[in-house]
Amino acid sequence: MNMKNELSQILDEASAEIKNQDINSELLEQVRIKYLGKKGRITDILKRLGTLSSEERPAVGAYANEIKTKIGGLISEKQKELEILNSQKRLAEEKIDITLPSKRRETGRRHPISQITLELEEVFTGMGFKIAQGPETEYAYYNFDALNSPKNHPSRDLQDTFYIRKDEKEIREDDILLRCHTSSVQVRYMENNKPPIKIICPGRVYRPDQDSSHTPVFYQVEGLVVDKNITLIDLKETLETAFIKLFGEETEIRLRPHYFPFTEPSVEVDCKCFICEGNGDSCQLCKGEGWLEMLGAGVVHPKVLAGCGIDPEVYTGFAFGMGIERLSMIKYGIDDIRNLYENDIRFLRQF
Ligand code: DAH
Repeated sequence: MNMKNELSQILDEASAEIKNQDINSELLEQVRIKYLGKKGRITDILKRLGTLSSEERPAVGAYANEIKTKIGGLISEKQKELEILNSQKRLAEEKIDITLPSKRRETGRRHPISQITLELEEVFTGMGFKIAQGPETEYAYYNFDALNSPKNHPSRDLQDTFYIRKDEKEIREDDILLRCHTSSVQVRYMENNKPPIKIICPGRVYRPDQDSSHTPVFYQVEGLVVDKNITLIDLKETLETAFIKLFGEETEIRLRPHYFPFTEPSVEVDCKCFICEGNGDSCQLCKGEGWLEMLGAGVVHPKVLAGCGIDPEVYTGFAFGMGIERLSMIKYGIDDIRNLYENDIRFLRQF
């Protein structure tokens, strides 16, 4: 076969390989090496041009170059074509389907204790109460003495209160302790504010108790109203209104006589059981009582007022204090207080 025919055949073969449907970038590179590379078939022909006669050589040489250019052109055309295909393929693969559901992100939420506290704050501020606060580390004076808690009162026993500094020999007003109730804030507030007073004091309190309904650290909300002509009736009215807002229109409360050193008279306030509605019969929530004990309250003892510089002949007041954990346990039917502190996400998610 003469070289010209050979060249035409090379062109046919090369273009057939380039146009092959299965071609890809790597195969195309192999085709380029096979035909145009240093040891490629065109190069081979060009090397062999020397074997031709001087008449034949220029025409065959020109033709060889023409074929070389054509094959080169076909390859680069194919290359562009493949690049376009590749980028189209990638775009199709990487397309984002905006109708797909998104990945769920875990979000935090308020702890049930915080929820109830906020709810209480909302209810009471809605009734004109201000929010007051006091220190958790407290002098025995504010926790006990100023609240008419006599020196030998059982609640002052070391067992019931965490002391930080206690005199060995005598009971002192400047012993330092972790407050065992928010009632201490009453005293601090009355020392610095004149009636009319209408406050609630939510906060953390401490007692060395631990079982299914007690934790060493828990939350209380204290309430205090001092003005002219405040009576037990105002207390009942206020608490009834608050509990109706918290628990619903059907809520009923009752007052039972009790004893607290800082109030006279003192009461405990119950709500009619939300489950058995007062029937009692084998009720899980109220344990057959028909009523749920909610808080302690009373008319502020004249000694407490006087000790804070408020004239008990002119002013009277009522006060109350309730446990927030207990309130949330009743509201949500939680039977073990420790659930509130284990921070098990499966428990917390329910609120
Ligand atoms: N401090 C009491 C307690 O922790 C609750 C209490 C009872 C608060 C009567 C008061 C009150 O303000 O008047 O058990």
